[in-house]
Amino acid sequence: MTKSTKKLLAKQSMPLKNAQTKTTKENFTFIDLFAGIGGFRIAFESVGGECVFASEWDKLAQQTYEENFGHIPAGDITQIPAEEIPDHDILTGGFPCQPFSIAGVTKHTALGNAHGFAHPTQGTLFFDVARIIDVKRPRAFVLENVKNLLGHDKGRTFKVIRETLEDELGYHVYPVLLDARWLVPQHRERIYIIGFRDDIDFSLPPLPDLQPKFRDILEPVVDPKYTLTDHLWKYLQDYAEKHRAKGNGFQFGMTDLNGVSRTLSARYYKDGSEILIPQGEGKNPRRLTPRECARLMGFPEEFKIVVSDTRAYKQFGNSVVVPVVQHVAEGIVSCLFDETKQVRKRQKAARQLSFALS
Ligand SMILES: C[S@@+](CC[C@H](N)C(=O)[O-])C[C@H]1O[C@@H](n2cnc3c(N)ncnc32)[C@H](O)[C@@H]1O
Repeated sequence: MTKSTKKLLAKQSMPLKNAQTKTTKENFTFIDLFAGIGGFRIAFESVGGECVFASEWDKLAQQTYEENFGHIPAGDITQIPAEEIPDHDILTGGFPCQPFSIAGVTKHTALGNAHGFAHPTQGTLFFDVARIIDVKRPRAFVLENVKNLLGHDKGRTFKVIRETLEDELGYHVYPVLLDARWLVPQHRERIYIIGFRDDIDFSLPPLPDLQPKFRDILEPVVDPKYTLTDHLWKYLQDYAEKHRAKGNGFQFGMTDLNGVSRTLSARYYKDGSEILIPQGEGKNPRRLTPRECARLMGFPEEFKIVVSDTRAYKQFGNSVVVPVVQHVAEGIVSCLFDETKQVRKRQKAARQLSFALS
């Protein structure tokens, strides 16, 4: 173990535990990469998982994480050797998307880089996810990202990710696009790249339609500081008008209280323009409070918000919609630990073997 990693892991008060040989729905383990404020952690704990490792390098996200889970995540994942991460059943993480350079790649090589060629994902955070999967071989993983990942760099980024997971790491990959709007009153499309080490029958049921309404997440009494100043409100209207005249671009999002809002982004702290709340004739609209952001992202009421409003907007805007991840987690877990699916898998393997032998 390197000196710096020892220091990192010592700072982490989380017990380092190895996965049991026989895991069940009730005692499976997972790790929380690019943990942010722990949206994945809440979801996977709610379906019976135990988090055995987390990594997040942002000091203020670490602070929120510690206040809510009692553990300080380890820092920069690029500095942590995969061998030093505890064994786990499921790897989770919403890695930041970066373009992959093809410079220096003359042919596909193993992640071990045996022939000295650069792997196309090298130097990106996806590479760190891949190297951890390569060494730890979790039974499943789920990687969350923005919908645009699919079209990023003309589809090349997603192609490299998929090829790395399927061809090089040997996983069975199921990308699923989900819109949170059926569970919380927010239009938020995200891709979930789900993978299994074994050849398992997997399909995720569609999200149920809970018919959420934006008004249901609003606080009854809100500090006037969340109301837009005359100056900002005029600026947003003028800006929108300028774009309308040109026939393009920016429109602020005045939210239908009986509908769903636009996507909460990490830049919401700037002007709140994507999700504005009407306050009636003669009154400027207001922005969401941090608690309302927490609700819009499906975080439980007891989730502690311990940072400034600006940081809280960033943290929730970067996070995941917890009930959507819960849905994904339930799907993965029931697939991994469902005996009938395991039996089917064994029967399939036996059929293949007898075919090969005949
Ligand atoms: C899209 S956010 C994920 C948020 C998380 N899913 C949640 O529920 O809050 C990506 C996170 O990765 C973190 N991050 C980026 N580079 C990192 C690195 N090298 N090591 C550890 N964390 C990193 C960022 O600080 C950010 O919080």
